[in-house]
Amino acid sequence: MIRKFLLYLFCFCICSSLMAQQTRSAGGKWKDNQGKTINAHGAGMLFYKGTYYLFGEIKKGKTHLVPNQNWEDYRVDAGGVSCYSSKDLLNWKYEGIAMAPDKTDTASDIHISKVIERPKVIYNNETKKFVMWMHIDREDYSFARCGVAVSDKPAGPYLYLGSVRPNGQESRDVTVFKDDNGDAYLIYSSEENNTMHICKLANDYLSPTRNYIRILQGQRREAPALFKYDHKYYLITSLCSGWDPNPARYAVADSMMGNWRQIGNPCVGKDSATTFYSQSTYVLPIDGKKGGFLFMADKWNKTDLEKSGYLWLPLHVKGNLVEIYDNKK
Ligand code: GAL
Repeated sequence: MIRKFLLYLFCFCICSSLMAQQTRSAGGKWKDNQGKTINAHGAGMLFYKGTYYLFGEIKKGKTHLVPNQNWEDYRVDAGGVSCYSSKDLLNWKYEGIAMAPDKTDTASDIHISKVIERPKVIYNNETKKFVMWMHIDREDYSFARCGVAVSDKPAGPYLYLGSVRPNGQESRDVTVFKDDNGDAYLIYSSEENNTMHICKLANDYLSPTRNYIRILQGQRREAPALFKYDHKYYLITSLCSGWDPNPARYAVADSMMGNWRQIGNPCVGKDSATTFYSQSTYVLPIDGKKGGFLFMADKWNKTDLEKSGYLWLPLHVKGNLVEIYDNKK
């Protein structure tokens, strides 16, 4: 009981402090150790040898609306992937550009005219490589592929290896999950965003295997964030409404390739119908403290994407129920 309370307090303190920072600084932005606004959207986190590494999309420059789309396709040039490191999740050191975009070759997947979104990094204990997966697309989102890059060091630089449609299937919003036994999986919106897929990665994590399942069929889910607690797997997703916020949902399963049951909205209280005006990107287990998680989300500013902010909140699992509160409200 006391341990649970301490854990909650720990999560609560981290989140309150992060939110205090967020409110304090101009435009709801978080600053790094150089006083510069943290630029890491659609982020993921790697915990390696006592350090947290935050990776995210660099959104910089003028936002424009892609013409002739039947949805609000607001874009900035693909800025590549940034990396920040921290020992305490509060103070962030800028590590530089983990994966740079290509500025010259218009045919390249990672040319600035393309889409590089939702980068996630996992470490392979066998090959000793850090592997980054990300959503690669054209600006009209018709490419729908999953890109992979690799590095010998956590903060990079990452070498882009190429992109794939796993088993010939579309892949847009994506995350990666590494299980306790070292098995790793891609989780991505597929089939025109109607259905999610989970696909097991090869042992070196550099390619998808043929082992995949279709989940949340026809439910139009995006922004996957997956975590494990007490032998169960939880998947938080958003609905599909572009940069606009919508209600989150979570699903639970006894195994990664098992039966995923959609439960409901994990957000509780005021503004839960808009995920507190944010969209999920990652759920971080707090090292060594069982049951403590951080829910990480983006607060998109669609007409000026560089000004998009972040929302990190404590997440806890009670029984099988996932709950996220915005403790400012
Ligand atoms: C969202 C998605 C974002 C980005 C955006 C583009 O639904 O979660 O990662 O792709 O659409 O409009």
